[in-house]
Amino acid sequence: MPTLRWKDKEKYEHISDINHKAVSFQINEDFYDISLKTTSIDEDDIWKNMLIRGDNKMVMESLIKSSLEKVDLIYIDPPFATGGNFNYKIHIGEEGAKEVVESYSDKWKGGIDSYLNFLYERILLMKHLLSEKGSIFLHLDWHISHYVKIMLDEIFGEGNFRNEIIWVYPAASAQTRSFFIRSFDVILFYTKSDKYMFNDDPNIYMEYSDRVKNALKEDENGVFYYRGGSHNGKKLSQKVYVKQDGIFPRDFWHDIPYIRANTAEYQGFSTQKPERLLKRIILATTNKNDLVADFFCGSGTTLAVAEKLGRRWIGCDSTNHAIHMGRKRLLNINNSNDIFTWKKKYNQSLKPFKILSLEGIHDKGFLPDKFIEKGENIELKNIFETSKPKLSIEIHQNEQKIVIELKDYSLPFMDQISSKIREKIKIFSDWIDYWAIDFSYSQNVFNVNWTSFRTPKMRKIEMRSKEHSHLKSGKYLIAIMIIDILGINTIHEFEIKVD
Ligand SMILES: C[S@@+](CC[C@H](N)C(=O)[O-])C[C@H]1O[C@@H](n2cnc3c(N)ncnc32)[C@H](O)[C@@H]1O
Repeated sequence: MPTLRWKDKEKYEHISDINHKAVSFQINEDFYDISLKTTSIDEDDIWKNMLIRGDNKMVMESLIKSSLEKVDLIYIDPPFATGGNFNYKIHIGEEGAKEVVESYSDKWKGGIDSYLNFLYERILLMKHLLSEKGSIFLHLDWHISHYVKIMLDEIFGEGNFRNEIIWVYPAASAQTRSFFIRSFDVILFYTKSDKYMFNDDPNIYMEYSDRVKNALKEDENGVFYYRGGSHNGKKLSQKVYVKQDGIFPRDFWHDIPYIRANTAEYQGFSTQKPERLLKRIILATTNKNDLVADFFCGSGTTLAVAEKLGRRWIGCDSTNHAIHMGRKRLLNINNSNDIFTWKKKYNQSLKPFKILSLEGIHDKGFLPDKFIEKGENIELKNIFETSKPKLSIEIHQNEQKIVIELKDYSLPFMDQISSKIREKIKIFSDWIDYWAIDFSYSQNVFNVNWTSFRTPKMRKIEMRSKEHSHLKSGKYLIAIMIIDILGINTIHEFEIKVD
């Protein structure tokens, strides 16, 4: 079989899957209390879905080392080697004034070779993590998909190639007049073996075109048909029986629109993919309770759809911005579209999940990705090491009952923040995007007991928490996590005494 060669490939070819130096995960935030309203189940006995912050290479090595059970479906939508930088908009205050901030870079210093090495190493790890019945979907486009297909043939075997799916969408804003407008993405579908899972589920079917839909009639047995067909080039007017749900999908998907800013699922993430795309993939290749993973999870589309379809999930992203979006998207899942009846709300509570990383939680907090990745504003990083944002609160305490109220939040390095952002801040709460409380903090894991946050559509945020009752008297450490609109994430501790 012909294979693809590129610079330095041999360095990665023989790397063993298990890196014995891989470090273990640490749980940073646990959303058990907030998801499960009951405490009757033993917490240690339940599976918790995982959102993991970190470079997916190290994350996958740690997953392999921890002998986690195998994954049934991997969908990834990695950077496409576009050579660009991706931006996102931050929304400010209740009116949601927008300001653009840079998120992640898709520039590759070593060109295509370095991109291929990056992906090659990671796909080898993904293969190791897949179960025997498992499938992998790689979402790419014209920049790189042709190289990656040859790479996947080598890794999984040509026989395990299933589809090259073309997801076509209208390219409304395309400017070019010098070549044809590029208007589709490529999704490569491979399986670990030939014992893979594939469900003929009517919920994955493609809708008929409007022409066919309008022509559908119902016969006396309630079965649908249209009149048509042909024989020897002659048009016939025979009854062609069809399933009402639509047709079994081909590999050319033209029935899934791109995300628009006015849709309920829009998170404000520039490369966000539609939930309907993941719905088809997840329903076709997994069953309820199977394990789905996305190691480039971005705004968390795969995780949200897996959650709604009753699959267990693991998500990973290297940027704090994406982890934060995923966190809020999942916490707000009851308000999102129901995956089967799109016009309804999902309206179900979230299953327990946790946020992990390869580092412990620390009160220095996290800096916005921009400041870490780009090496810009290094001074800001140094300042942050020694002085952190200031939070003032009021604790309303009535015997065992406690309510926390935020009174002020300020950044010590205001002069380093773009004046465009500063000018839009009217009151201190405009800085705050998310806050959470752990009413008895262990300084190890942040157990989320209560949260309030803004989304692109839901701009209001509470400044007063719900009442919390401590069951026993004693001293408690209350921790408040603040994530501001710049992505600065800090934990503030306060001691209280309950009589
Ligand atoms: C195209 S976006 C994914 C969008 C996602 N499918 C969605 O619907 O929102 C790619 C993501 O991969 C992340 N990423 C890039 N390199 C990574 C790495 N080495 N480890 C983990 N995540 C990475 C980026 O931070 C970005 O959020």
